Amino acid sequence: MNLNDVEILYDRETVKEKVKELGKKISEDYQGKNLLLVGILKGAFVFMADLIREIDIPLELDFMDVSSYGMSTVSSGEVRILKDLDYSIKDKDVLVVEDIIDTGLTLKYIKDMLLKRGPKSVRTCCLLDKPARRTTDINPDYVGFIIPDEFIVGYGIDYAEKYRNYQDICILKPSVYQK
Ligand code: IMP
Ligand code: MG
Repeated sequence: MNLNDVEILYDRETVKEKVKELGKKISEDYQGKNLLLVGILKGAFVFMADLIREIDIPLELDFMDVSSYGMSTVSSGEVRILKDLDYSIKDKDVLVVEDIIDTGLTLKYIKDMLLKRGPKSVRTCCLLDKPARRTTDINPDYVGFIIPDEFIVGYGIDYAEKYRNYQDICILKPSVYQK
């Protein structure tokens, strides 16, 4: 591990406390409902794994893998589905679990698409929110941390598929990706 590449933004203990808090809130809000968590791969898989263990009501989970069309720096808002859900979401109370919301284009696309499949409700939960770069009117229903406009890695989140295994939420030093 090259820890010189990163700076810790939220350490593992702080993240653990926040995930616990989110799980408690979700458990209260979804009491008696038909909760289905939909994790967005791959970035949300670590968050999802910890979050479900902080929720103490019955739940189901599924995953979806998406990628943005076009250039990596300019999102067109159109999203390609690489892996769709395994099951129907009809009559489910869907909670989409995402790592980061930035422009909001990805989450908006996913939410609009899921709403057409006849769920009872669709809400969203993002571990990290970068409101500075939002170009859509979507705001997540549950947010872990509101963060500055920095490039984040760790706790499942990658840069070029690396750093997902770091246990803390970190800022990737610009010198790494500006080389
Ligand atoms: P949006 O469509 O602009 O909201 O992009 C959200 C997606 O971009 C997230 O699901 C992440 O996969 C990715 N993303 C945004 N910011 C970062 C970051 O700081 N580090 C790693 N991935 C990011
Ligand atoms: Mg993503």
